Amino acid sequence: MTDSRMNPEAPPTPDHVTIYAKDYEPPKWWVRHVDLDCDLSADKARIRATLNVEKNGSHDRPLVLAGDGLKPLTVQVDGADAQWTLEGDNLLIELSGEAHEIATTVEFDPSANSQLMGLYASGGLLCTQCESEGFRRITFHPDRPDVLSTYSVTMHADAKAYPILLANGNKVSEGIGEDGRHWARWEDPFPKPSYLFAMVAGDLSANSGAFTTMSGREVELNIWVREKDLPLTHHALQALKDSMKWDEEVYGREYDLDLFNIVAVDDFNFGAMENKGLNIFNSRYVLADSETATDQDFDAIAGVVAHEYFHNWSGNRVTCRDWFQLSLKEGFTVFRDQCFSQDHNSEAVKRIEDVRLLRAIQFPEDSGPLAHPVRPDSYIEISNFYTATVYNKGAELIRMMRTILGEKDFRKGSDLYFERHDGQAVTCEDFVKAMEDASGKDLAQFRLWYSQAGTPTVRAHVDASGSGAVLKLQQDIPDTPGQKDKQPMAIPLKMALLSRQSGAELVEERTVMLGEAEQTVTFEDIAEADPILSINRDFSAPIILESDRDDEELAALARVDGNAFARYEALQELNLRALLPVIRGETVMDASKVIAAFDATLSDERLDDAFKAEAIMIPSEAMIGEKLATIDPDKVHAARQALGHEVGKGLTEKLEQMYGRERPAGDDLSVAAKGQRALSNQLLGLIASGDPAKGARLAKAQYDGARNMTERQGALTVLVSLDGAERGAALEDFYNRFKDQGLVLDKWFGLQARAERDDTMDAVEKLAEHPDFTLKNPNRLRALLVNFASNQWVFHHASGRGYDLLARMVIEADKLNPQVAARLVPPLGRWRRYTDARAKLMRAALQRIEQADGLSKDVFEQVSKSLG
Ligand code: PHE
Ligand code: ZN
Repeated sequence: MTDSRMNPEAPPTPDHVTIYAKDYEPPKWWVRHVDLDCDLSADKARIRATLNVEKNGSHDRPLVLAGDGLKPLTVQVDGADAQWTLEGDNLLIELSGEAHEIATTVEFDPSANSQLMGLYASGGLLCTQCESEGFRRITFHPDRPDVLSTYSVTMHADAKAYPILLANGNKVSEGIGEDGRHWARWEDPFPKPSYLFAMVAGDLSANSGAFTTMSGREVELNIWVREKDLPLTHHALQALKDSMKWDEEVYGREYDLDLFNIVAVDDFNFGAMENKGLNIFNSRYVLADSETATDQDFDAIAGVVAHEYFHNWSGNRVTCRDWFQLSLKEGFTVFRDQCFSQDHNSEAVKRIEDVRLLRAIQFPEDSGPLAHPVRPDSYIEISNFYTATVYNKGAELIRMMRTILGEKDFRKGSDLYFERHDGQAVTCEDFVKAMEDASGKDLAQFRLWYSQAGTPTVRAHVDASGSGAVLKLQQDIPDTPGQKDKQPMAIPLKMALLSRQSGAELVEERTVMLGEAEQTVTFEDIAEADPILSINRDFSAPIILESDRDDEELAALARVDGNAFARYEALQELNLRALLPVIRGETVMDASKVIAAFDATLSDERLDDAFKAEAIMIPSEAMIGEKLATIDPDKVHAARQALGHEVGKGLTEKLEQMYGRERPAGDDLSVAAKGQRALSNQLLGLIASGDPAKGARLAKAQYDGARNMTERQGALTVLVSLDGAERGAALEDFYNRFKDQGLVLDKWFGLQARAERDDTMDAVEKLAEHPDFTLKNPNRLRALLVNFASNQWVFHHASGRGYDLLARMVIEADKLNPQVAARLVPPLGRWRRYTDARAKLMRAALQRIEQADGLSKDVFEQVSKSLG
């Protein structure tokens, strides 16, 4: 065999080619039905696929079936051995007629599959992951989302090692074979793209339940795990039932099969996968009890279960035409799961959490070298585009459309979308069009949100004189890689004008549409001369707001604004105003306004604990860094520490008094109990910032008396950044208690990687050598490395040791699992934002990765774009 990579005369390897959205062409051949016969064992899988193909239109092009690392053992057309060629990894077959039956056989070793794409082994199970392009690692197939087929799947495996055999759809028959083997046949009646294919074989037990749909059909529900994990599955099962009900009530969407299976696996590249009727989950988003999972973990499980379930309509019944449309299913589905969680928790607090996440991850992405539109124009490796921009900014776009249309018309729009496109593979444009058609509203300018990258900055200023007020708005969209001189966007801004004294709305809440680069809005007859602007309420648009409101106005908003999100925002802004001048060296820390505002917030009896917990969080170092043209991590850290110290000292009494309140029962998962624990942990953090010795004592006592993981982890989070004997003792105890529980051990790695200490760098280097550390398990890898790389002050150690370690780990991990390795690169890509010495070291680390042998296209894309 010849390998073009070894021949200098040959054209460059086809590996690193860029795919463009504008080059989309419909498939030349449809595949109407796929029949798979799978003979499975840990180190050998034999897959015989029979595809019923049909020519699309008239042409004389061959059938091209994608493969990845496969060799065909047999290729038959209509029952006879056929001519074929391999072009790279793809199988080409010349066909003479309009419709044919193509049969291929391949063999491979699932236990050798460290990429966790295709069919792989995890903890004694065999399972699949096909999105985006994993099906081609199982069999030859067009493997593009606009080719939809029905599937029938027969699985054969050893009955002892793999007593449970699962695939999409319904089990139609099963039987005993020879030599201790057995088989099961599954059929999925709904045509689906190959990325939704799944099968699982293993020794699994189910926590089973049932759900009666709105039309009275009974659906069997199963959460499949190892037997010992069964007690940890109740929360996930309940979340599934809640999700099914919610989608009926809020979107009128009913489940369509008679069976819904979820399987938990320990080795998984992302969070979970919405395979039709057979969701496969990273076990961290299934398994929980109050001893081992925090309240946050419980909420994340409910959110992910809901997300994957909601995909059954937004993703499976209506899918994506091509991968550039990824946000069609992901943005919409994230929006849906966010609303589900808002409905099951404190609405304002969930919104605050989502915005915090957007700012921490998506804003930096949008302002860096990997910035891309919600609907990207090109990619080298699509796996790199499962980003906060496609997911979370994508969700913001859907939310803005709901704001613009109103809830009723938005629902009409989604009904129309599902009705029009059920069973189809469509585009983001189709979604917007349905919203337009259902509402009669013109969304022409709004579409720019899909195509223009970068976070808009909006400047807002109010002139109040006499009896009226004028709101002046300006917008500015930054240049991003490949995109310059952008057009003004359609930005919905929820706003009100408030009385300084009472917070009463002098101008009632309304949505102002900012569409021009500059715009003014006039309000007449306002009862007070000097109203305060409350704007971007509920974070109605994903923008950076700049306003010239003074500290007094912000303090007033923090106290009286009727919009909880706006109160939170005013507090954040007050924090930044205390921090930024200190970081710039313009002044010393003056925490008085933050202290007063926190004090007022903590005393306000109308506010719930969950909100207070968010409100007294000092912005993270990453978030502060976003506000700076050039980041000096030492200065950011010092200023943030100083503010925490002042606030902790200034509010000692109140913090301790509130911290001392009685705690809810250990296993009480009510919204109120979760809020109380969240607040209590934040209070502890601030107490420790003010007085580390006292903080250590209290935290150790909380750790020792912990009745659940929220209390335990909350205490340890504080302890890990402190000195003293308590720290080591608690860490050791935690390790000994949980060393056999992988998901909890991940926390142990993560907590230490997040510690704000000057020896964390040493600790992380040591932990990377720890016998329990492995690059093979994505959760473990992320626990140490993602936490470490987001620990700004530690990762950006002036020596460059942090960059070295990360680069080394990327190169190592890339040999096993390119997808996961590539996701470690973005922190290094931020080099332009750092002071010179660090920028140089970061670039050098990227260059080292770039020069590594046999780099995957995943890492190649991230590194080459980061170097720019
Ligand atoms: N489609 C999955 C989700 O968002 C994410 C995913 C992508 C999982 C690729 C695995 C691989 O629900
Ligand atoms: Zn999704």
